[in-house]
Amino acid sequence: MRKNTHACYYSDYLQLDKLLGAQAMESEKHGHPAHDEMLFIVTHQAYELWFKQLLHELRSVMALMGDPVLDDRALATIVHRLKRFTVIQKLINEQISVLETMSPQDFLEFRDYLVPASGFQSVQFKELEIRLGLRRSQRTEADRQFFYSRLNEADRTYLLALEQQETLTCQLDRWLSRLPLLKFEGFAFWEHYRRGAQDMLDSDEAIIRQTFEGDSLTSQLDELDGTRARFQALFDDSHYQRLLAEGQLSLSHDAMMSALFINLYRDEPLFQLPFQLLTSLMEIDELFTAWRYRHVLMVQRMLGSKIGTGGSSGSDYLRRNTEANRLFRDLYAISTYLLPKHALPVLPDKVKKRLGFSLGGD
Ligand code: HEM
Repeated sequence: MRKNTHACYYSDYLQLDKLLGAQAMESEKHGHPAHDEMLFIVTHQAYELWFKQLLHELRSVMALMGDPVLDDRALATIVHRLKRFTVIQKLINEQISVLETMSPQDFLEFRDYLVPASGFQSVQFKELEIRLGLRRSQRTEADRQFFYSRLNEADRTYLLALEQQETLTCQLDRWLSRLPLLKFEGFAFWEHYRRGAQDMLDSDEAIIRQTFEGDSLTSQLDELDGTRARFQALFDDSHYQRLLAEGQLSLSHDAMMSALFINLYRDEPLFQLPFQLLTSLMEIDELFTAWRYRHVLMVQRMLGSKIGTGGSSGSDYLRRNTEANRLFRDLYAISTYLLPKHALPVLPDKVKKRLGFSLGGD
């Protein structure tokens, strides 16, 4: 082990003089110290520290995902770090409760001093959104405008350059597309799957016809037709391409089929890690969305219908972003295409062998 040439000291190592000297209350500068502004600053700073850690995990995951050959060890590391990502998300989602101990009136004591600063100038938050795969075209009109008009030149330039780089969603698509899952010599898997899907939808139709009548029957059958059309898109390339062009889907067809296959046969040993990877990504999306909802509710509670310090319409603006800024929608769409286990095509022994591994004897 290398000899330690200087003794490490707790507060030096953590640079606590800088960290604990960085809570400058605007209300104090204006001669009207507001007790709760300290909580407001510390909460935001704690968020930014955790955002830093989330970016640290995300960048490392993306460095591994960028490798043209992703072996099981790398995949295990990716899954482990994404799980840590979600644990941190759960922690920071809960931090909203701490800030909510501040009353709306106490917030008013210092709110005006903060104008025009706002959370939407958090570059680390935007960086997380962009690296994970949120596209500019997906943002609401207001979000797009604020995004670039309220940032200083350096932050804007940084984020614009980031938008040109590869995202985790692109890497996921490439990885899924090159998995050799869809090629079974002599076994027409997707034909079997298609018949299984047809049987399932026919059985759903029979149940609907037995259960409903009149307008309810018509609307239930319309819904079912929509589901049939979505299944159809899996097997009709031009239909699938249209959904891609309309922005209703973003995963390429090959990637979608691989993700579906992993979900259908997630019990197979070879799919354990890929399935956990897909599940972690959905959880990340869900936890981001949960944070957005909590944040909107807090904003409503603090501001009612007042505008934000950054000049947006406040909670209305944020509510619209909550639905628009979803990250891995396609992975949720896969649930539409799942069949019950008993309806799945039985895989030939040769294929099963390729998907399994055994620690036992022969
Ligand atoms: C009293 C507590 C808070 C209030 C009243 C509040 C209010 C707002 C409002 C009104 C906006 C919309 C932009 C604007 O017009 O300013 C916003 C955006 C934002 N806030 Fe907060 N906020 C609070 C706490 C927090 C905390 C603790 C964080 C943690 C980092 C945060 C992060 C963000 C982010 C990232 C955005 C941009 C979201 C997006 O554009 O989709 N806010 N906030």
